[in-house]
Amino acid sequence: MFPLDNSRRFLWLLVLLFGCFLPCLADLKVLVRLEDGQLTEENLQADSDKDFITLEFRKTDGTFVTYLADFKQDVKIFHVLILGELERGQSQFQALCFVTRLQSNEIIPSESMAKLRQKNPHAVRQAEEMRGTDTLQMDVAINFTKGVQLTPHIHNICAEAKEAIYTRQEDVRLWLERGIDGSMFEVLPQPSSIPSLHPCKLCPQDWKPCICSYHLSLEWIPCSLKYCKNRDSSVKTTSYRCGIRSCQKAFTFHFYVAQKQLCLWDEET
Ligand SMILES: *[C@@H]1O[C@H](CO)[C@@H](O)[C@H](O)[C@H]1NC(C)=O
Repeated sequence: MFPLDNSRRFLWLLVLLFGCFLPCLADLKVLVRLEDGQLTEENLQADSDKDFITLEFRKTDGTFVTYLADFKQDVKIFHVLILGELERGQSQFQALCFVTRLQSNEIIPSESMAKLRQKNPHAVRQAEEMRGTDTLQMDVAINFTKGVQLTPHIHNICAEAKEAIYTRQEDVRLWLERGIDGSMFEVLPQPSSIPSLHPCKLCPQDWKPCICSYHLSLEWIPCSLKYCKNRDSSVKTTSYRCGIRSCQKAFTFHFYVAQKQLCLWDEET
């Protein structure tokens, strides 16, 4: 056994479940504090067989966020379901999907995630590492029907966002090298080629095309594994997985909309 002080230091344990045959599924709920100070519950699910993780939570304004990491295809999807303001003539909800490359150190493997258990489910989790904000120019639209080639999860996650699935040209280049069918991508109008395209915030007319922004923060992601050394009196020192490191990571997406009306949240920020 490892010393008591050592085991106390980790609120999280990666419990190795010997009885867990494939597929190994897990469902974990953790309490986190959002950027505005409100508490929300993050729901993490892992499927080690299909090799993906989903993370879901509701923001204070009711927006429902889903993050999916598909390790088989090295692709991640962000889906946001924004509630419309009916009194302002908006539809009931607006859905957006952002699809981009999954980096190698963003989130722990699905197999480790599936084995994660927490000791105290009522504790409010605070990320140990702040990873800042990435700004992503989502300048390409993905065809929903054909997008299944990129990751089969598009069909579940982005079903409500068929007309609003975005990615980046630099991701497309990488995918084309991997033999992905290029006909699913359509490069969108950009400010560099159309000078009249402005950020929606600065655009006075509701019917004009503009560049919309959406900010999203993942407050708590298990981003890497922690290793501990076995410090017993025997000669050999072995290391074992003894927990996880958590990270906070935010994203700002910029994307083309045909009308400012499709980007009304940008006004308030
Ligand atoms: C997407 O692809 C499907 C299947 O090839 C096609 O029928 C459809 O017109 C495409 N949609 C758009 C918006 O280009």
